[in-house]
Amino acid sequence: MHPTDRPRRLRTDGVRPLVSETSLSAADLVAPVFVDATTDERVPIETMPGHERVPVDEAVDRVEEILETGVEAVIFFGIPESKDAEGARAYADDGVVQRAIRRVDAETDAYVIGDVCLCEYTDHGHCGVIEPSAETDPTLTVKNDETLDLLAETAVSQADAGADMVAPSAMTDGQVRAIREALDAAGHEDVALMSYAVKYESAFYGPFRDAADGAPAFGDRRHYQMDPANRREALREARIDAEEGADVLMVKPGLPYLDIVADLRREFDHPIAAYNVSGEYAMIHAAAEKGWLDLTETAHESLLSIKRAGADLIVTYFAEDLAERL
Ligand code: PBG
Repeated sequence: MHPTDRPRRLRTDGVRPLVSETSLSAADLVAPVFVDATTDERVPIETMPGHERVPVDEAVDRVEEILETGVEAVIFFGIPESKDAEGARAYADDGVVQRAIRRVDAETDAYVIGDVCLCEYTDHGHCGVIEPSAETDPTLTVKNDETLDLLAETAVSQADAGADMVAPSAMTDGQVRAIREALDAAGHEDVALMSYAVKYESAFYGPFRDAADGAPAFGDRRHYQMDPANRREALREARIDAEEGADVLMVKPGLPYLDIVADLRREFDHPIAAYNVSGEYAMIHAAAEKGWLDLTETAHESLLSIKRAGADLIVTYFAEDLAERL
C-alpha cells in the first residue's frame, strides 16, 4: 500500500520555510514595563522571573534594554506612592506612569502604550469606584458610570505625557467611548486606543497582581470581567468596543482563549491583540526551572500558537527573550 498523499514531502528543511503559514517577529511583540514610585532601585518580581519593578529614574534605561532586543513597543503599568478609594494617582499629571512616559517619549523611539485602569491605584484594589457597602455585600462592586470619567482622565493624562496609545483594561461598560471622546476633546485625535475588549475573570492573572500590587482587597472581579465559560459573549463585547471606536481589539488571557482569538479574527477587520498573561509566563518558567520543559521552545510555541489563532500583536513577558532569538 502506497499513500497517495504524502504531507511529509513538505517537511524537509529546504521546503519547510516556504510553506510555513505563520511567523513570529519581534515587531509583533509588546513588552510590559512596571514603574514603581515606592522604590529607588530595581526590585525583581519573584513570581515573574526576569522582570523587575523599576523606579522612574530607570524607566528610560529599562526601555532601551527592550529596544535593543528588537521589540519596539512597551506597555506601562504603575505602582503609585499612595493609594486611595478613587485611585487619584492613576490620573495625576505627576503620577508614576505619567512621569515615566514623559521621559521615555522624550528620550527613546519606543512606541509607548499606557494601561488604563484603577486597580493598581485604589486602596481596595478594584478597577473603579466602589459602593461604600461593597465590602459587606460582594454583589455591589464597581460603580460603572462613576468610573468612566476617572478612566477618561487617566487616558488623557497619559496622552498628555506622550503616550502613543492607551489601553483600557477596567472592563467598565462604555469606557472606550468615554475615553475616545475625552482624548478627542483634549486634542489627542491621533492617540490610538487598544481595548482590552474581551477580558476574562481569570486565575492566570495571579503573578501580575503580586507584581503590580493590584489584587482586590476583598471580593473578586467576576462582576465586571467576563465569565470564562462564555464564548458568544466575547463577540458581543468586541462589537461594542469596535462601535465605540477601538482601533485594536484585545483578548486576554491568550493561550487558554485561542478559540476567542480565532473568533475575533474571523469577525473583525481590526487588528487583534492577545495578552499572554503573567500566569502563562510563570507556569512555563516554573516547569523550566524544574527541568520539565524547555523555556525558550515552549515560549516560542506558545506565541506562535497565539499568532496562528489570528492575533496580529501579542503583549508578552517573553518579548525580550524571544526577540533576541528571532
Ligand atoms: C489591570 C490589569 C491586570 C492585568 C493587566 N491589566 C490585572 C487584573 O485584571 O487583575 C493582568 C496582566 C497579567 O496577568 O499579566 N486591570
